[in-house]
Amino acid sequence: MVSFFKKNDKDKIEEKDIKENNIDITKGNIPSHIAIIMDGNGRWAKERNLPRYMGHKAGVETIREIVKECSKLGVKYLTLYAFSTENWKRPKDEVSALMKLLVQYLRKEVKELYENNVIVNTIGDIERLPDLCVKELQSAYDKTKDNTGLTLNLALNYGGRDEIITAVKNIYKDIKEGKLKEEEINNDTMSNYLYTKGIEDPDLIIRPSGEQRLSNFLLWQCAYSEFWYSHIKWPDFRKEHLHKAIYDYQNRDRRFGAVK
Ligand code: FPP
Repeated sequence: MVSFFKKNDKDKIEEKDIKENNIDITKGNIPSHIAIIMDGNGRWAKERNLPRYMGHKAGVETIREIVKECSKLGVKYLTLYAFSTENWKRPKDEVSALMKLLVQYLRKEVKELYENNVIVNTIGDIERLPDLCVKELQSAYDKTKDNTGLTLNLALNYGGRDEIITAVKNIYKDIKEGKLKEEEINNDTMSNYLYTKGIEDPDLIIRPSGEQRLSNFLLWQCAYSEFWYSHIKWPDFRKEHLHKAIYDYQNRDRRFGAVK
C-alpha cells in the first residue's frame, strides 16, 4: 500500500528535533510578515509513486493549516509563492492542474477565510492567468477586503525581476508625464511601485524541501529578511515547523547593517 506519510531520514531527524525541543514562541516577537516558498510538492508525490498533481493537492491542505495558524498567531501578512513567472515552463497538464486547484481552493475557502477575518490579496501579473482564476481572485478580494486580520498574499504569475522591471517602466512613465521627479526616487518610492505597495517587507522567508535559493521571489523586499530552510517538503509541513521557524527567527540578531 502507498503510504501518504512516508518520510525520508532527514525529515525524521528534523521532526524529532522539533518535537524534543520545547518550542515556546509566546515570549518573543511574532514576525509581522512571513513569506513562504511552498516547495517539494513534486518530490513528495514522486516518493509515493503519485502524479505530481497529488503533491500540489496535498500542498493545499498545508496552506489551510498554515493560514489558520498565522491568523491565530497575529501575523499581519502571509505571502505564499504559488505560481512563478517561470512556472509556465512546466507541462501543460501540471499548469492547468495548479490553476484548477487555485479555483477550487478559493471557492471552498473564501467563506471561512472571511469569517476568520482574513483578506485574500494577490501579488503578480494576474491578468495572464485563466479568466476563471482572475474572476475568483477578484471575487475573493471583494468579499474579504474590509477584513482587518491577516492579509494572505497569493503570489501568482509572480517574478521578482518582472516586478522590478514593471516598476522601473512605471517610474519612467511617471517622470515623463511630470508626475514624479528624479530626485524623488528613493527606497520608499520604489516600494510604492511594486506589487507589494503598502505591505511591509517580509521579516521571515521560509523555504521547505531542502532547496536553499530564492527563485525570483521578493527580490527587492527581502533585502533584510531572515531566511529559514527545512528538509520537510511542503505537503508535510505542519504548524510545528512554522513554530520552529518563528522560534529560530526570534533568536536571531537583526542589525539591518548597523552595529548594536
Ligand atoms: C513548488 O513545488 C510548488 C509549486 C510551484 C506550486 C505550489 C502550489 C500549491 C501548493 C497549490 C496551489 C495554490 C493555491 C494557492 C491553492 P514543486 O512542484 O516545484 O516541487 P518539486 O521541487 O519537488 O518538484
